[in-house]
Amino acid sequence: MSAPRRLRLGVLVSGTGRTLENFAALSRSGLLRGEVVLVISSSRTAYALERAALLGLPALALAPRSFPSEAAFAAEVFRRLEKERVDLALLAGFLARLPIARGWRGRVMNIHPALLPGFGGKGFYGLRVHEAVRAAGVKVSGCTVHFADDEYDHGPIILQRTVPVSFEDSAEDIAHRVFEKEKTAYPEAVNLYAAERLLHADGRVQVLP
Ligand code: GAR
Repeated sequence: MSAPRRLRLGVLVSGTGRTLENFAALSRSGLLRGEVVLVISSSRTAYALERAALLGLPALALAPRSFPSEAAFAAEVFRRLEKERVDLALLAGFLARLPIARGWRGRVMNIHPALLPGFGGKGFYGLRVHEAVRAAGVKVSGCTVHFADDEYDHGPIILQRTVPVSFEDSAEDIAHRVFEKEKTAYPEAVNLYAAERLLHADGRVQVLP
């Protein structure tokens, strides 16, 4: 019998890199069926780049503004991923819009710290998401892992995890609670992908038993 498939992962970041660190730790402890072979940051100053260096992960910065067009930026991102023979790209707080290249539909995942299709899209990042959740008075929030398409925080949903929201919660309280869920939800989705248990049908994802 052949060994279970270990994916070559590309992680795309713009922020602090907590998600990246979580992937690296789980990969090293054998709980993630993949290893991070490339980190791409959309910002030269993102702390995630320092974190990648501390973790000994190969990383580079590609700033969208240094490309003549969004298409040229995306072409370079996917060229780098292909060069490293990445199987699956993981958006981990990546703030640049990324039109998905040919051959990459269903091979780029995103996580969003709310229950999509609510509280997502352009401008919904960081504490803004949780401030909007609090202002709406909803009683649950959570995180969504989905395959990415050409729109921000959009595409077939793979899994969602919920957390309770109480009247007294600050945006920071909600953010903390949601991120704790993210730490298991995103790796779980990657492991389902590695196990070939995610089936696309009519813009939806079926999780096979
Ligand atoms: C995560 O909470 C992720 O859900 C969110 O960015 C954070 C990244 O944190 N993504 C989005 O808001 C996508 N719209 P990190 O840089 O510390 O890993």
